[in-house]
Amino acid sequence: MNTTKRYTITAALPYTNGPIHIGHLAGVYVPADIYARYLRLTGNDVAFICGSDEHGVPITIKAKKEGVSPQDIVDKYHAIIKQSFEDFGITFDNYSRTSAKIHHETASEFFTTLYNKNEFVEETKEQLYDAEVNQFLADRFVIGICPKCGYEESYGDQCENCGTSHNAIDLINPKSAITGNKPTLKQTKHWYLPLNKHEEFLNKWILKDHKKDWKPNVYGQCKSWIDDGLRPRAVTRDLDWGIPVPLPDAEGKVLYVWFDAPIGYISSTKEWAERVGKDWRPYWKDKDTKLVHFIGKDNIVFHCIIFPAMLKAEGSYILPDNVPANEFLNLENNKLSTSKNWAVWLPQYLKDFPDKQDVLRYALTANAPETKDNDFTWKDFQARNNNELVAIFGNFINRVVVLTNKYYNGIVPAPSNFSKIDEETRAAVKAYPAVISSSIERYRFREALGELMNLARLGNKYLADSEPWKVIKEDESRVQTIMYIALQIASALATLSEPFLPITSNKLKKILRFTKNDKNETEFHAEPVEASLWNDIGVKDNLLPAGHQIGRAELLFNKIEDKEIQAQLDKLQASKAANEAADKTAEPQKEEISFNDFTKLDMRVGTILEAEKMPKTKKLLVLKVDTGIDVRTIVSGIAESFKPDEVIGKRVTVLVNLAPRALRGVESEGMILMTETPEGKLVFVNPDDKNITNGLKIS
Ligand code: MF3
Ligand code: ZN
Repeated sequence: MNTTKRYTITAALPYTNGPIHIGHLAGVYVPADIYARYLRLTGNDVAFICGSDEHGVPITIKAKKEGVSPQDIVDKYHAIIKQSFEDFGITFDNYSRTSAKIHHETASEFFTTLYNKNEFVEETKEQLYDAEVNQFLADRFVIGICPKCGYEESYGDQCENCGTSHNAIDLINPKSAITGNKPTLKQTKHWYLPLNKHEEFLNKWILKDHKKDWKPNVYGQCKSWIDDGLRPRAVTRDLDWGIPVPLPDAEGKVLYVWFDAPIGYISSTKEWAERVGKDWRPYWKDKDTKLVHFIGKDNIVFHCIIFPAMLKAEGSYILPDNVPANEFLNLENNKLSTSKNWAVWLPQYLKDFPDKQDVLRYALTANAPETKDNDFTWKDFQARNNNELVAIFGNFINRVVVLTNKYYNGIVPAPSNFSKIDEETRAAVKAYPAVISSSIERYRFREALGELMNLARLGNKYLADSEPWKVIKEDESRVQTIMYIALQIASALATLSEPFLPITSNKLKKILRFTKNDKNETEFHAEPVEASLWNDIGVKDNLLPAGHQIGRAELLFNKIEDKEIQAQLDKLQASKAANEAADKTAEPQKEEISFNDFTKLDMRVGTILEAEKMPKTKKLLVLKVDTGIDVRTIVSGIAESFKPDEVIGKRVTVLVNLAPRALRGVESEGMILMTETPEGKLVFVNPDDKNITNGLKIS
């Protein structure tokens, strides 16, 4: 087990361009919180640090889209995100934001230090430029083909498909994300961090030293980066949103968001230290401090290569001991996607399941994408709740508390004569803290959670095997011992569950009266007792002393019904339908035709005079249409969208020189032009109709 130590634990600063979803929670914040809570429980000195990442192009783009200022966007989402973290029990010691003054100062100072140490290379080079909007196309302002994997929609700084991070100028067929224009080139001066200069150090630090204990996915990515050869990276941008480059000749330039954001960990630590009256320096500069970065896999290069190179170049900082990056979480077999609204947003989840924060923490940890991408399904979520939390954990606690109240008015009975199974059970309970610790310390949170549930299973099995409800009729003193032991297991669960299921742990502590109950405290004859410390569970026999009075039974978890799950699946189905409709809108243009081709079409305005359903068909109406030339029969596939009565008298566009063809034996002498709305309804072509959006096809 660990000995007391100082830890600085960081969780990736989320971009404030939208709320956070289950992917963020599963990949970064829940594991980081489990780790931080565990370390505090085992008596360590912990600074658990995060904040909002408020610079960068995605925020500017979102602001443009919504017609508001970037500051409006970050203010809005900073508040929403911060609230979500509180709601889900993520216990940051400090949650700051990169627009904070302390951060601007810290990041500027960091840049200046490197500048003064000659750690940058200054270069004037050609960069992509969109002349129409007078803007350099940095990062997400440009989209093109990834030079590494061929993905067609790679951003200028990073490919979301293969994770490679590159320079915008390397994209193949770049396009401006603002106007769609093909960029031109324009000269501009920037400051580069020469990663190549740090290659030898990184090579030794990651590949040769002890970093073999890093997760294979993390180590592998680093290795491939280093093997490919490192190149200088620009750490400044021509943008108007960000931290101004603190140099006299840098008008209109800001720090690259990936330069300033990781420094946000440091400024957030400073903000915290100032608030609680501590010195921030040991948390970042004392070599005995263990620095751990929790991130998603798309952030690996920034935390394992670029930020360490920055820290090393600065010279006075420690480097991360580990970067336990997770893979991605998918949702119902599809990639999570903000733009496609394929996600479970935390504020929304909380509206639908207001008391089930722990259930989500549980489901996400039990199924965490620790070694490979994983899938979140609502069915699995329901099963985890009903078959595990309710049926195992909740059931055990409920039985213990109900029986203790029933037999002993809630007073912990005194044991006597431990049998062989009692002794074995007590020994088994004592082994759990070390087992769970060992998994947590190796960043294997699913395994750790599995062990916690095994302890609850042990409790259930102990009760099932010893059958106190039967024995009570013959041997009352035996039941005292059984219930005493069962209560000890419940107590161990109250403490050991805290990192994973903090709200449940609290509730259980109240039920067992480790803490005061909110109401009815007067009905108890004794004061609450202290909950056991994590490390005591492995050595102490008496976690809940005989004579202590526990509270009343209360369900820890409730069953989730099929209809609640169906409602979630319906929501996703609606997103899918909307996306498919949107995809239709964006249907690519057909092959070019000549003017001559166009003039071959003879289209006329006509009026529908008669309409009848074609017998034995679902889709067809037989129309009589006055085309101005004649009155002719046209068979049209619109019967699912219109009743015959509804179309009589309608003025329509008719393609009159289409070769006649027989449909179900009726000859159709032309075609009525229609379009299909995203919902699949056919409507007559009338661009003023609000159902008809740009790009819909007329056919
Ligand atoms: N905002 C980034 C993202 O969401 C993460 C930034 S982590 C930090 O991918 F190190 F830069 F802070
Ligand atoms: Zn790629």
